Amino acid sequence: MTKNVLVLPGDGIGPEIAAEARKVLDVVNAQFDLGLSVDEALVGGAAIDAAGDALPAETWAKCEAADAILLGAVGGPKWDTLPPNERPEKAGLLKIRAQLDLFGNLRPAILSPQLADASSLKPEVVAGLDILIVRELTGGIYFGEPRGIRTLENGVRQGYNTYVYDEDEIRRIGRVAFEAAMKRDKRLCSVDKANVLEVTMLWREVMEELGKEYPEVELSHMYVDNAAMQLVRAPKQFDVMVTGNMFGDILSDAAAMLTGSIGMLPSASLDQNGKGMYEPCHGSAPDIAGQGIANPLAMIISAAMMLRHSLGMEDAAAKIEAAVDTVLDQGLRTGDIWSEGTQKVSTSEMGDAVVAALNA
Ligand code: IPM
Ligand code: MG
Repeated sequence: MTKNVLVLPGDGIGPEIAAEARKVLDVVNAQFDLGLSVDEALVGGAAIDAAGDALPAETWAKCEAADAILLGAVGGPKWDTLPPNERPEKAGLLKIRAQLDLFGNLRPAILSPQLADASSLKPEVVAGLDILIVRELTGGIYFGEPRGIRTLENGVRQGYNTYVYDEDEIRRIGRVAFEAAMKRDKRLCSVDKANVLEVTMLWREVMEELGKEYPEVELSHMYVDNAAMQLVRAPKQFDVMVTGNMFGDILSDAAAMLTGSIGMLPSASLDQNGKGMYEPCHGSAPDIAGQGIANPLAMIISAAMMLRHSLGMEDAAAKIEAAVDTVLDQGLRTGDIWSEGTQKVSTSEMGDAVVAALNA
């Protein structure tokens, strides 16, 4: 049976890393006879330039029809002056997340032993690190209404957003996190700011209620400021973390750096039925776009996650992950993870090396 994969390269380094992921998908598609049909469409700034809309109707139709989506990154300085509702992030990425109801964002931060030196923390603090951040992705302050920038009667401009979650939204992301914890070390830390924000007081209450359904899971709570500190102080205390949209955005970047580079981290954004969009945690990195130096591994590992979680192709996923391991063992590094004694390679050389490892 054919499975339709839609690749959305997006902006900045997106097209460069998407090209490498496609090479890798082509190889496993043939090797395992997966029956993948891979299509591509424009999103974000690239789509604004070509079609005047960050999510053109044609792209949206393909998103709906796809069995899984692999996205590079969106946004860049060129489109930063557009009105908020037209910008690549909101009108492209966030719109896909919302319209496909991809509320469950899984961001694993796993340290490859080969990269212990690339972490900004001491090797003993990060060795063996394996954290899963479960981030709510379609609610919270990112989507709350009312929002905007207005001018008050006294002529002073005021920006405002609304931080809102209802208990059903909290419960469904909580369930994703508890289920994930059950498959791991059965420890779940819920991150909130319940000492100040009512919305997260409710968050904590609902997590407590849900915890009664998962007696095997050791549930703890942490304020987000402390969580940020603990992540850089003693990150190995965490197994699964669950939090809202904005806190999750911030903490997952911090967790990514523990592993040496945000250029290594994949993510999955899933709906209730496991349909998903997969993307590297990093952004479009306009500062290095077009130079062929971006790290394609987060994108390639995201493709592996896609095969595993949305398409049920575990063997192919595991083979890609093993191939990534092989190239790291060979000492190949893009600039972001390079250290003395390793070999610096370009984006496409890294992709080619993964392909070679798959073919070996
Ligand atoms: C991420 C990104 C996005 C987010 C941006 C590009 C809108 O930072 O996926 O973490 O904030 O969700
Ligand atoms: Mg982010």
